[in-house]
Amino acid sequence: MKNIELIANGEKSWEWAYSRMGIINTLVNEKIDHKPLKGLRLGLSLHVTKETSVLVIAAIKLGSKVSLCSANPLSVQEDIAAFLSSKGVKVYAWKDETEREYFDNIKQVLQTGPQVLTDDGSNLHIMAHNKKIQGILGGTEETTSGITRLRALEEQGKLLYPIIGVNEARTKHLFDNRYGTGQSTLMAIIKLTNVLIAGKHIVICGYGYVGKGVASRAKGLGAIVTVVEVDSLRALEAYMDGYQVRKIIEVVDKGDIFITCTGQKNVISEKHFRKMKNGAILANAGHFDNEIEVDKLFLNSKENYQIKPYLDCFHIQGKKIFLLSKGRVVNLVGAEGNPPEVMAMSFANQLLSIIHVFRNHKKMQNKVYSVPENIDSNVAKLSIKYLGISIDRLTQLQIKYAKSY
Ligand SMILES: NC(=O)c1ccc[n+]([C@@H]2O[C@H](COP(=O)([O-])OP(=O)(O)OC[C@H]3O[C@@H](n4cnc5c(N)ncnc54)[C@H](O)[C@@H]3O)[C@@H](O)[C@H]2O)c1
Repeated sequence: MKNIELIANGEKSWEWAYSRMGIINTLVNEKIDHKPLKGLRLGLSLHVTKETSVLVIAAIKLGSKVSLCSANPLSVQEDIAAFLSSKGVKVYAWKDETEREYFDNIKQVLQTGPQVLTDDGSNLHIMAHNKKIQGILGGTEETTSGITRLRALEEQGKLLYPIIGVNEARTKHLFDNRYGTGQSTLMAIIKLTNVLIAGKHIVICGYGYVGKGVASRAKGLGAIVTVVEVDSLRALEAYMDGYQVRKIIEVVDKGDIFITCTGQKNVISEKHFRKMKNGAILANAGHFDNEIEVDKLFLNSKENYQIKPYLDCFHIQGKKIFLLSKGRVVNLVGAEGNPPEVMAMSFANQLLSIIHVFRNHKKMQNKVYSVPENIDSNVAKLSIKYLGISIDRLTQLQIKYAKSY
């Protein structure tokens, strides 16, 4: 980590996130006497945000030693990196890494001899496999796109250790992907452009958990929303949620803002740029920077320049097209990522899954596992308590009724 002067700021940011992520604290207090991660070398590739720092400090309190690199070259909050460094974490991350530095930093984490790997997008897991790194007991994976890659590895019989797909917990994807990314994606677009959302025609590609959240927040701010899908069921859901559903080619000349949320590549490609309206804005909320064919924007533009960091203009066939966050995950590059309240739920699943893998890896196979049901429901119960929500219980009569025929 280059700049240690940021430590004090990082600590304040950690405190801020920590004060809104009470369930992590509850879990730490419950387990601190037993130190369930004692002796563990934990290797992390996560977005280096204040919310992530809450997970890292929790893992340290429970006994592990941590090394950390970023899950994206542009998403590092440098004050957090400095603060974590000061806490003894081996941090290999800084803002605006080149592609090469980004992969070198992943390599550095693998050179610390980690036993459990926690990843977001699976570049750390894939490199561990390619380099045949020894001594890894198991791992966890945070996001949809990472799990897709790991399942492909599993199907080919190449997975070398057990991995828990944290995204599969209901307390993760129903909240982080939907409400978290929904809010932070709109926030990043507004922060980077300051455009009025009301009245804009926003085209959302992908109506999965992320797409649903982004669509609902855009609609709430007064946008006219069109959804693009390839899956019939999700297209129907979007339709009945009140959105227009169209092929991308049918709306490419009508949208003011395009947001990709698919986990697929080239969803908005060369053939689309040429048909877009003057002033169209492109943003990606999916994990990887391949949903928009960014290199073709460069190739096809007569002129291109930066208006401000992460807002670039391309002149294509007499029109101006604007790209946010260089096509990388907009809510983390252009804003601060998902809010602490939902990251508390995601990272409670992470923490408990890391403990589960460390404890049970010998009994597990080289498979991608879902988060154990008891962990998912425990996180839901803790969150309800923390958020001050009260719910009823079934009466004995109702329990009996549910079992009757
Ligand atoms: N930015 C963030 O903070 C954040 C948070 C969570 C997940 N993610 C990432 O966002 C992406 C989406 O995640 P999700 O959980 O919503 O996944 P999901 O699988 O629930 O949804 C993806 C949707 O995209 C649709 N789709 C696929 N290809 C398409 C195409 N060519 N055109 C239109 N639609 C297409 C699929 O049918 C599916 O309905 C993934 O890359 C995931 O890793 C980002």
